[in-house]
Amino acid sequence: MTSTDVFAPKSIAVVLGTRPEIIKLAHLIRLLGDAAFVVHTGQHYDPKLSGSFFPEMGLQEPDVFLAVGGLTRGTQIGIAVQKLDELFAERTPDAVVVQGDTNAVLAGAVAANARNVLICHIEAGLRSFDRNMPEEHNRVVTDHLSDLCCAPTQVNVDNLAAEGIGGERVVETGNTIVEAVLELLPSKEEQQAMARAHGVEPGAFVLSTFHRPENVDDPANYRTILEHLAGLELPVVLPLHPRSVKRAEEHGLGSLLAKLRVVEPIGYREFLGLEAAAALLISDSGGVQEEASIVKTPLVVVRNSTERPEVIGTFATRCTPGADIGAAATEMLGRDLSGFESPYGDGSASRRSLEALAARIQGR
Ligand code: UD1
Ligand code: UDP
Repeated sequence: MTSTDVFAPKSIAVVLGTRPEIIKLAHLIRLLGDAAFVVHTGQHYDPKLSGSFFPEMGLQEPDVFLAVGGLTRGTQIGIAVQKLDELFAERTPDAVVVQGDTNAVLAGAVAANARNVLICHIEAGLRSFDRNMPEEHNRVVTDHLSDLCCAPTQVNVDNLAAEGIGGERVVETGNTIVEAVLELLPSKEEQQAMARAHGVEPGAFVLSTFHRPENVDDPANYRTILEHLAGLELPVVLPLHPRSVKRAEEHGLGSLLAKLRVVEPIGYREFLGLEAAAALLISDSGGVQEEASIVKTPLVVVRNSTERPEVIGTFATRCTPGADIGAAATEMLGRDLSGFESPYGDGSASRRSLEALAARIQGR
């Protein structure tokens, strides 16, 4: 299927706002071609979290960039809804596509709903059942507003069914992260060179990321995590999200960070190379949980809950922010994951989602 067969030019608005949305929507946007009208809410605005990902993922600049970054959650959502409403009034799309669970996603869904535009939610049906997470509220509301929920796994389909969302509103697609990894994963030699460029030996370092409020906004949890990372035998490469940089300054954690190999956020291809070359991943990221199952590197998830239970027990173990990360690392280090299949599909989630969307638009 090429999008030009089915969708009119600029008829599908894709609303995104953060790094993982750009990564996970890139293949779908490229499949849409001329049909895509990309609106970036500006939730992420640092080039290393946003701008640099467009060329790297083979995308043109967004058609529209709104500037809601750095504002409170309610203000981000409110302003984005207002601006999207104005845009959709000028040029009403045939559908709005959103991906994941960020503030940008909720804003896209609310604005589409207010203009009676069909909503397609990519990565629908994830549930942490943890109401402390803003993402849980964003994803629940978005799923309930959506006309088409593209659910990565059967677990996600079941979550939606438990809330009364089923029938033609739901299609199981796999996760679009698989396409992104398959397209950009560097060769083994490049992976090794990427590790050495960071001053570590392939297979003998830990790659870590942290940005969740439960970990970095809480001074005690953030300190405990950094102490545990600093206590590991292997060197730790830590590409630090701007939120985590700011919180470390506020909490006075600079001396602990100095014991780790802290770097700025890394481009996607290089990050994938490091993930594949690492002995172990330690992270609170959603996307890293999925990627661990694709590149087959064991993972310690440091969070109170996860919306990705599919990977726990095989590819990953989970420990709470205050728990002993060292013990969890020992449990996972050296685990051979080569015999396990990723639960996120075969790399056709973007195509399947667009086929389902085309059918819905034609049937409307
Ligand atoms: C957001 C998403 C989270 C997602 C993450 C991906 C919500 C509620 N949170 O979290 O689900 O996992 O993106 O990375 O939607 N900041 C900068 N530069 C930027 C962006 C942010 O300095 O380009 C700083 C600002 O101080 C900002 C803070 O980080 O206030 C938090 O940013 P925000 O986008 O609200 O949340 P994230 O933690 O990035
Ligand atoms: N990532 C990246 N560079 C980095 C850190 C992460 O490209 O320095 C990628 C990672 O591979 C994954 C995505 O960013 O695909 C995850 O983003 P993040 O952890 O910010 O958000 P989440 O997935 O938790 O919503």
